[in-house]
Amino acid sequence: MTAPRSATPPSLAQSLHFWARNASNESALLRTSLSVGIFDTLPVEDEGAPVTVQRLAEQVGAKVRGVRSLVELLVCLRLVHMDEARGLVLARPVAAFLRDAVFRERLHEAARWWGPIGHLEEAVRSGAPMTHEGQRWDVLEHYQRLFLETTPAPSPEAEDFFDRFARGSARTWLLVTVGRLGLLEQLAMGPQGEAALRSATGASERGLRTVLDVLAHLGLTRTEGTTVRLTDEARQVLEGKALQYLLRSFSVSAQYWEALERLDETVRHERFVLDLKDPEVSRRFYADNSNQITAVFASHFQLSRRAAATIAQVRPLAGASVLDIGTGSGVWGVAFSRTEPTAHVTYFDQEEVLAQAKRNVEQLQALSRARFWPGNLFTQDFGSAAYDFIILPQVLNVLRPESLPDMFRRVARALKPDGILVIAEYVLNERRDGPLEHLYFGLRRFLTNEGDLLSHSEYSELLSNVGLTASVCLPLPTQELLLAARPGVTLPTRLAPATRAAA
Ligand SMILES: C[S@@+](CC[C@H](N)C(=O)[O-])C[C@H]1O[C@@H](n2cnc3c(N)ncnc32)[C@H](O)[C@@H]1O
Repeated sequence: MTAPRSATPPSLAQSLHFWARNASNESALLRTSLSVGIFDTLPVEDEGAPVTVQRLAEQVGAKVRGVRSLVELLVCLRLVHMDEARGLVLARPVAAFLRDAVFRERLHEAARWWGPIGHLEEAVRSGAPMTHEGQRWDVLEHYQRLFLETTPAPSPEAEDFFDRFARGSARTWLLVTVGRLGLLEQLAMGPQGEAALRSATGASERGLRTVLDVLAHLGLTRTEGTTVRLTDEARQVLEGKALQYLLRSFSVSAQYWEALERLDETVRHERFVLDLKDPEVSRRFYADNSNQITAVFASHFQLSRRAAATIAQVRPLAGASVLDIGTGSGVWGVAFSRTEPTAHVTYFDQEEVLAQAKRNVEQLQALSRARFWPGNLFTQDFGSAAYDFIILPQVLNVLRPESLPDMFRRVARALKPDGILVIAEYVLNERRDGPLEHLYFGLRRFLTNEGDLLSHSEYSELLSNVGLTASVCLPLPTQELLLAARPGVTLPTRLAPATRAAA
């Protein structure tokens, strides 16, 4: 077995979550590793001497950071092995099926469909082949073939690889499309006739038929005669707010579609298709995303309240001045206000985003000791010895690695001598080959010309350079809480117990 698979098949809820967030990242990872030449260049396990990522990048003619973003994921998926000296080899079973010429051709053929699949919505409406870059593509027929016909693969490992390579992203885009057509919302209201579904969604007969066949294959729908309904499992999974949450996750994934298609350009040349360092692109992207960030407010609020309670175990928050940089929805700063009503919180972000934060802070009745500070976090001087706590919540991953030393310098200067820096971030393990979800998140940050994810010791080194020599890293349920301070400042060593968020 090459990739980690649990003994029991994933539930529909787990699958939907994966299709919404990471299936297209995974397909792009495998497709790009093949097209950039990583699989063909790596020595095979037990056959050649392991190579470093720098050497590999040189050999394939690509940037080190890009190759590293792919390889760390391949190691996590156990398609590539890494030794203690960070030497890399290709897993033997992977090398075996990639040498099979017929299988290779199947992969190459599937890889050509990324762009055309992006026209699925149009194809469902018209029922006809689509034009993409001057050629005709029958996207509906492609879906039929991909999901409903069986083609033998050389081994179970090869079949699993093909599924991740070709079908993963196709599942994501199918669900993006049914979300846009309003099909799942229609079905969530109850069983419907096909004719009614066609008129509600604008789908053609052929388009609807194809979509329903594939949705049935995925375990989401069932058709009896001409009546279509959600399966019992799908109904349970999509109940209440879950459907809207899922549809929003799919639409966030859709924002990355073209950039993932062209990931090889980014890996080879650091050419960014979705460049969030472009202020205009960033403003639009994060203004769109602030709705999504607010949608996950309740779950993040549990984390931020727990972090505030953890700090309060060793340090009173009464009257504290707090700066929340890259506040987004305000969820981290407001947790300090709610934990200790006398704390003063400054919420810093781009102007467009602060309106959303203000609404949330107001709703939580924490407006009286709040300040909203619009600015650019890449250049802003945050002052000197002004804050007891500075929070960097999910924001370091926005900064390119070379910007981190300057960011930490400005932040350390703004902290009072006994101040505590509070970082909420996806911190990698020391081998930098996990957790998997973090690595996928990191791939998207690379793709968008943003930051790199680091391990605790990599952060410690950067923080020590600005005098914050003490640090602890505590695992919250979905991300890590890293606290740093000058020597002699007491830091908590364990998380406070989880409490129910009273939003
Ligand atoms: C990933 S979001 C994190 C939001 C929030 N802290 C949370 O944990 O939910 C990153 C935030 O950084 C902000 N940001 C990105 N670039 C920025 C810039 N140049 N100046 C100020 N804020 C920026 C975005 O607007 C966004 O709100």
